[in-house]
Amino acid sequence: MNGRDLVRSVKAVSVVGPAQGLRAVRASWRRRRVDAVGLRRRGPERARVPGAVVGVDPEPGGGLVRFARSRLRITVTVGGAVFWGWDGAEPGPSYALADVCPEVDPRAVLEPDKDGGWRVVAERVTIAVSRHGAVEVCTPGGVMLRRDLPPRWWEPEGGGEARWVQRSEVAADARFFGLGGRAAGPRLRDGSYRLWNTDPGGSFAPGDDPLSITMPVQMVVADAGTHLMFHDNSWDGVVSLREGTEGAGSGHDRGGSCEVRMEGGPLRCWVVVGTPARVLHAWAQLTGGATVPPSWALGHQHARWGFGSEKEVRRVVTGYRERSLPLEAVHLDIDHYAARQVFTVDRERFPSLPRLATELRGEGVRLVSVIDPAIKAVHGNPAYDGGRAIDAFVRDTTGKAVRGVVWPGESVFPDFTAEHVRKWWGGLYEERLAQGFSGFWLDMNEPASFTAFGDTTLPRSARHALDGRGGDHREAHNVYGLCMARACYEGMRELQPRERPFVFSRSGWVGMQRYGGTWSGDVASGWPGLRASLSLVVGLGLCGVPYSGPDVGGFDGHPSPELYLRWFQLGAYLPLFRTHSALRAGRREPWEFGDEVLGHARGALEERRRLVPYFMTLAHLARRTGAPYVRPLWWAAPEDRGLRDCEDAFLLGDCLLVAPVLDPGVERRTVRLPEGRWYDTVTGEVFEGPGSVTVACPLPRIAVLARAGAVLPVRGEQGGVELEVWAPAPGRTGGGLVVRDAGDGWEEPAIERYQSCWSEGRVVVESSGGGEPSCPVRVRGL
Ligand code: NOJ
Repeated sequence: MNGRDLVRSVKAVSVVGPAQGLRAVRASWRRRRVDAVGLRRRGPERARVPGAVVGVDPEPGGGLVRFARSRLRITVTVGGAVFWGWDGAEPGPSYALADVCPEVDPRAVLEPDKDGGWRVVAERVTIAVSRHGAVEVCTPGGVMLRRDLPPRWWEPEGGGEARWVQRSEVAADARFFGLGGRAAGPRLRDGSYRLWNTDPGGSFAPGDDPLSITMPVQMVVADAGTHLMFHDNSWDGVVSLREGTEGAGSGHDRGGSCEVRMEGGPLRCWVVVGTPARVLHAWAQLTGGATVPPSWALGHQHARWGFGSEKEVRRVVTGYRERSLPLEAVHLDIDHYAARQVFTVDRERFPSLPRLATELRGEGVRLVSVIDPAIKAVHGNPAYDGGRAIDAFVRDTTGKAVRGVVWPGESVFPDFTAEHVRKWWGGLYEERLAQGFSGFWLDMNEPASFTAFGDTTLPRSARHALDGRGGDHREAHNVYGLCMARACYEGMRELQPRERPFVFSRSGWVGMQRYGGTWSGDVASGWPGLRASLSLVVGLGLCGVPYSGPDVGGFDGHPSPELYLRWFQLGAYLPLFRTHSALRAGRREPWEFGDEVLGHARGALEERRRLVPYFMTLAHLARRTGAPYVRPLWWAAPEDRGLRDCEDAFLLGDCLLVAPVLDPGVERRTVRLPEGRWYDTVTGEVFEGPGSVTVACPLPRIAVLARAGAVLPVRGEQGGVELEVWAPAPGRTGGGLVVRDAGDGWEEPAIERYQSCWSEGRVVVESSGGGEPSCPVRVRGL
């Protein structure tokens, strides 16, 4: 057991109390025994490299390059993404991809290259393969973005899973982003990042890694271009990154490097090259468009572990109403379950949830339910009995159901990698709908199981269906949360076909955006936690998961009024805007921090409500184009090195730049601006980019700047949509997109396009087809 494991285990045990703690100790030993029996010991291994090229077999979209001891298939697909796989690896089956096999682009052909190598030339990328198996990713102009050295495998002599390592080189100026949700980003500095979804056990800060969502997805941004590299492999692994250094014109640049080391599974990857927008568009085509949340999930939501009773829920909702604070949803945590058992209700403390739900709905407030995968292993628990009847639970190699310890005590775990289990689980939501819930918050699905030592999850030898292929937890672990989210999403689509499901899940993997969003998990209450929560949202967006947000105020402890307010002000500009805290943590209602904070929090809430039409537009655009709502500042100018290194501000869509306050006592801060004119949305002060400027961010607000020429939809004072237009710089034009809310169903709203310009001394807005916009226009920045 290493030091971090120990800290995590002790934290977990201290959260669950002594009785659970004892069970956790037993579970840890049990897990160790199960793995000792179920996992073959790695004996001597043989190392292998591809060797020299011996021939090729051209195929549509690329072909097969044969080496002395391996073979490499390269295929260009119509969306622009390029696949390559060693040793016979194919694109499917894959939990990441939206379709089993993306369409091949027959225009791409395999042709001979210099020095006995081969290459495939596609529209946006050239892949060059050296005669010993190095693979280069180059721009159409021939500039190299990445060079993968020949891979190396270690095969157990007695047979079994081969480990492999892939080393790569990138430019000295390249920066790495992504790898799922990382607390110490969004720019990923030198270090090792594990690929193993992990419950941080009560709280995490920037130094904690890995967390609940890891993904082998790297977004690499360099002067020469941007590329996304995805190793489609769900096994445990480590990515080691080292940024390059530049010799300030001395010619002594040291390139950056990356090493992916996997414990098993195929060596296959996808690469996409282009501008960040193009890359994420192709990525969304490959892995699926993001769900569009219902409009209410774009407003403010409030949660707490430990409301404890219907009375308390009513008290909180009344608190919001009496202070005229907008509130769209209240989330009920495990304390509303009977004895912490999923799909049950504690009837003493929540005697009539359906009535409560109807009542709240009348006030425009929805109820959202936490859902845990672990099921208390006790007869009479309907989910346990029902699951046993269909053989739903993960088993060990001897055929016994694997038992772990989670909130309800000794528990079993549905195997969501089996279709029949997903279907059964999806059906269980009927009970939740009958209780009046409108959305689902999927928790503990790394999957987490409390332990006194070792990994806080299932035994690595535990068996999984893996959708017919069969395998063990080493392969299934990282996709467990993804498959649980899928079960919920598909179940809801059957049960309530006319409404878009609202699902967000703590754990997940590549492609989880097809089923819902996520939240940042148990972020520690403190200034570093505030910074980490922004890092997670930006990083996940770059991996294709656009809807997320932190526990505003932090999950544990008692934030100071200033910290709470600054967190609240940031949260108001993130897709999921939710206050939440732990059982023994302080309260998070805006009125608990004094009148001054309440007044400023009200300002943030009202601004969020005003921006909901813009958030709606961004949600639809995210689904259609892959562009996340929250984007790093370098989004439109990846060649600007200053922007590449800027981690404390972000773009919200094309129109707004948000510069939160991430440190105590700050009332003015530096903001690195992308090119163009920007307006302070409160004072109207004008700033010119590119470059660094100082903006005011007094306690009542953080700095939010609007791009000159921007057109964005906002909620007008009477409730309808209004266009807010920021005056273009003299002699320049601008514009914006609007996608209107067509209700919470499946109707496909059209994209409206607007242009703004100066005409005869006035700012004029026209819709792209010509003609006046159909809603009121308010020009600002004059
Ligand atoms: C862990 C989750 O991250 C947290 O949000 C939740 O309150 C607790 N589990 C209890 O359900």
